[in-house]
Amino acid sequence: MFNPSQKKIGILGGGQLGRMLIQSGIDFNLSIHVLDPDKQAPCKHIAKEFTQGSLTDFDAVYSFGKKLDIITIEIENVHTGALKKLEQEGKEVYPQPHIIETIQDKGLQKLFFQRNNIPTPDFFLIENKEQIHKYQDFFPFFQKLRKGGYDGKGVTKLSDAQHLEQAFDAPSVLERLVDFKTELSVVVSRNKKGEVKTFPAVACAFNPEANLVEFLFAPAPIPKKVEQKAQQLAIEIAEKLGIIGILAVELFVTKNNEVLVNELAPRPHNSGHHSIEANNTSQFEQHLRAILNLPLGDTALTSPAVMINLLGEKGYEGKAVYQGIEEVMKLSGTHIHLYGKETTKPFRKMGHVTLTATSLQEAEDKARKVKAALKVISE
Ligand SMILES: Nc1ncnc2c1ncn2[C@@H]1O[C@H](COP(=O)(O)OP(=O)(O)OP(=O)(O)O)[C@@H](O)[C@H]1O
Ligand SMILES: [Mg+2]
Repeated sequence: MFNPSQKKIGILGGGQLGRMLIQSGIDFNLSIHVLDPDKQAPCKHIAKEFTQGSLTDFDAVYSFGKKLDIITIEIENVHTGALKKLEQEGKEVYPQPHIIETIQDKGLQKLFFQRNNIPTPDFFLIENKEQIHKYQDFFPFFQKLRKGGYDGKGVTKLSDAQHLEQAFDAPSVLERLVDFKTELSVVVSRNKKGEVKTFPAVACAFNPEANLVEFLFAPAPIPKKVEQKAQQLAIEIAEKLGIIGILAVELFVTKNNEVLVNELAPRPHNSGHHSIEANNTSQFEQHLRAILNLPLGDTALTSPAVMINLLGEKGYEGKAVYQGIEEVMKLSGTHIHLYGKETTKPFRKMGHVTLTATSLQEAEDKARKVKAALKVISE
């Protein structure tokens, strides 16, 4: 027996990920509440109830959660102390707060990989910039802030010990540079019964200037062995964490087809957006199934797909308008998602487009056309 609308669900964060979760939840008649500091957040008009408040403030998170049955997140930077108290008081909090805490800190993530023999690039943990000098023999590095980074913002490449102007003077992970061939992402989900399912791996191509995903290819054009290894690692991580909900596992594939885990995100992820149109179950539906302890859906890809992020165009800031949208909509298999953000600025994630086609090449050709034609500019 199941009446989905009986459980009051809340999301910490009201951005595009929350918005797509709500869109999916409507199919199950779920009522979803949202907390976000921005009164114009993308979820504002589609949440059952929208509360404006800080996600890192104990009282704001605790009093929001108190009214609900199940609390989930669409961003990791939340007050886990408040979530732990809610959990102790019998609320269902997924992913579990201690897992959010581990993943919030890139240093703790690395230690988790190390403890569990999960292959990951070699690293050192440092407290400040001064300590970088101890590791002169191991350059080049990627330095990553332990906490608070997102979309590449807490990450910087350090090529040699003489050029540390870019370096952060804060607790961070010094990670040895991996000369990777491909970056992959595997989205995995686990419910309370312990059922685990992965989505097929996708390959991500980054825009080096923005440090954001530029193209995402599904299925990832990789050997079967690499696919299997990536799937197996994602399952192992989900099981070792004992996570309930969805988890994105970012991976590097080296030139020798070695698979290394880069980092985790315990929520729906940019690399799973194509699943709305290109898989039997979307990552958003899968997350809802997992947190409601329902059977997980079939994740098979139903069509090759390429996804592109719609980023705010350089040189424009203000009320957003979408140039070239009519032209793009004439192409078959074009699925446009606008996130409802009123104002644009350079590289802001304003939406995404998924292109489905009979082959990956055809989807990529269309994606390149869309990228050239569709621009987010200001009025
Ligand atoms: N050790 C490494 N060797 C080579 N490239 C790396 C390494 N670590 C990170 N990168 C590059 O930098 C990107 C961003 O790093 P990472 O995923 O750790 O940061 P992030 O800010 O959490 O990113 P996002 O929020 O976009 O996922 C990676 O996707 C990869 O392209
Ligand atoms: Mg990343």
